[in-house]
Amino acid sequence: MPKKTIFFAVLAISACALAFAPRPQSPARPSSPAAFVAPAGPVHAADDGLALTPPMGWYPWNEFGQEPQNEALIRQISEALVKSGMKEAGYAYVGPDEGICFSRDASGRLTTNLERYPSGLRGLGDVIHAQGLKYALYTDAGTLTCSKAMPGTKDREVEDMAAFAEWRADYVKIDWCNTKGQDIVKTYIKLHDAQHAAGRPIVHSLCSWGDGEPWKWAASVGHLWRTTSDICGPGKADWPHALKMAAQNERLYAAAGPGHWNDPDMMITGMDGLSESQNRSFFSLWCMMAAPLMAGNDLRRMTESTIRILTNLEAIAINQDPLGVQGHIVRRSGPVEIWAGKPLFDGSRALLVFNPGTAPAEVKIAWSDIGLADSAALYVRDVWTHKTTGPQGGGLAVTVAPNDVALLRVSKTDAFPIPPIIVADSYRVALRDDRVVRDNRVVRNDPGAQTLAGTITVKNNGSAELPLWKVRPGLPSWLSISVSGNGKIQTFTNTVSTAGLKKGSYHAVVRADNVEPVSEKPMSALYYDVDLEVTGGAGAAPRNGR
Ligand code: GLA
Repeated sequence: MPKKTIFFAVLAISACALAFAPRPQSPARPSSPAAFVAPAGPVHAADDGLALTPPMGWYPWNEFGQEPQNEALIRQISEALVKSGMKEAGYAYVGPDEGICFSRDASGRLTTNLERYPSGLRGLGDVIHAQGLKYALYTDAGTLTCSKAMPGTKDREVEDMAAFAEWRADYVKIDWCNTKGQDIVKTYIKLHDAQHAAGRPIVHSLCSWGDGEPWKWAASVGHLWRTTSDICGPGKADWPHALKMAAQNERLYAAAGPGHWNDPDMMITGMDGLSESQNRSFFSLWCMMAAPLMAGNDLRRMTESTIRILTNLEAIAINQDPLGVQGHIVRRSGPVEIWAGKPLFDGSRALLVFNPGTAPAEVKIAWSDIGLADSAALYVRDVWTHKTTGPQGGGLAVTVAPNDVALLRVSKTDAFPIPPIIVADSYRVALRDDRVVRDNRVVRNDPGAQTLAGTITVKNNGSAELPLWKVRPGLPSWLSISVSGNGKIQTFTNTVSTAGLKKGSYHAVVRADNVEPVSEKPMSALYYDVDLEVTGGAGAAPRNGR
């Protein structure tokens, strides 16, 4: 191994074990995006069915920066995500950001920092999956991560993506620090190909802060791309800066769609320094922009108001709409912004009136402002007060307080259904044949064929009744799956037979697909892992576990 590599490996371990070096510089702000451009070429998600609605979850950076990211924090946050009701509202992806703290061993393989992550990065993944959550990890496309405390993936793309697959990641954010001289398009294509070769379907989150205008090309290599610089420094919500991020992202609306999203960064809702109306406005803007809803606040200490905002299913319904259209500003009235251009799956439309000014404002909106006939008699649903009015013709007048919003749905009927919000009890089935060891003695060891079963229960917290999920064919011969239940709760029964299997570990990734019945749009594919441990057979399992 060349000496230089040894130096980096040692540096990485000590930097993460002690404290991070001060951050050299924050990434450059992207130049103002020019006119929006719809992405050319195939959409990555067409193959893997991932992120057909904007990803929802939590990432540590906004609140914590790199410290104190560790296993204890991620476990506590995952628990808070479940207890607060956020999981039931659709938030799923959770994991470390740059505090992932891996380093390279002598052979160049990424290795876990066991002081920070005692269960190992794979072990933490299993914990997260067992809670019915999805595992999000972090890396950088350059030579080093932004703080320079960890190695980047440059020239190790294949090996590193294989490591993420081994750790069972479902989502990987790929930063763009220390990439001097690298071609951004070629680099992210290389990472996409490496991930594909690793064989695990993973949401790819490109993080170049708008550098290289990813909205023009990244739909074929990733599922979302940052359009802006960091929304805040760690622990410091910055309202005026957040509004700039929203403005930069708004202009790119034509580039967003199912499986390819503009990402104006993690949310600041619930961070110190924001008023309730700012929290509500921020969340409404992110819902209207079909932005990824990655919470960035400390979920362990949320006020009731923050929880109410983050879990408002009526607002989330606008964000998670199966048509996947990003809304935009259609008119201004003084400082007030009128956002529309967001048709929803049931034929209704979303409408956001945002007042960033300093005085209350009354705004009149004609139905024709939002693309409807003024003569239409329409119902109006206020997503924050949960009240429906109408039917009324012509339009409506709303008064909005400073820094506040009216987030509305307008429809010919008063039904206002919620699209599918999918929540699983677990994303991992782990089975083991019944070899029982007590006091170091095998008390039961049946080498004969055994049939074992484990279930995954999947709920739909939306209002539509879903058809049964369809499991993709191509399962290994030891695994069979049946799906039963109704439009709201379905059970995947995973039956394995150890007949003919050698001693060893077996693994399969199961994919199931479904279609939202009102719009007939494909839903994000559902993936989970099945692990089988065979202790009773003879010999060793084949390497690929099949
Ligand atoms: C960049 C990203 C942030 C965060 C940090 C980690 O600044 O934009 O979201 O991941 O790196 O260093």
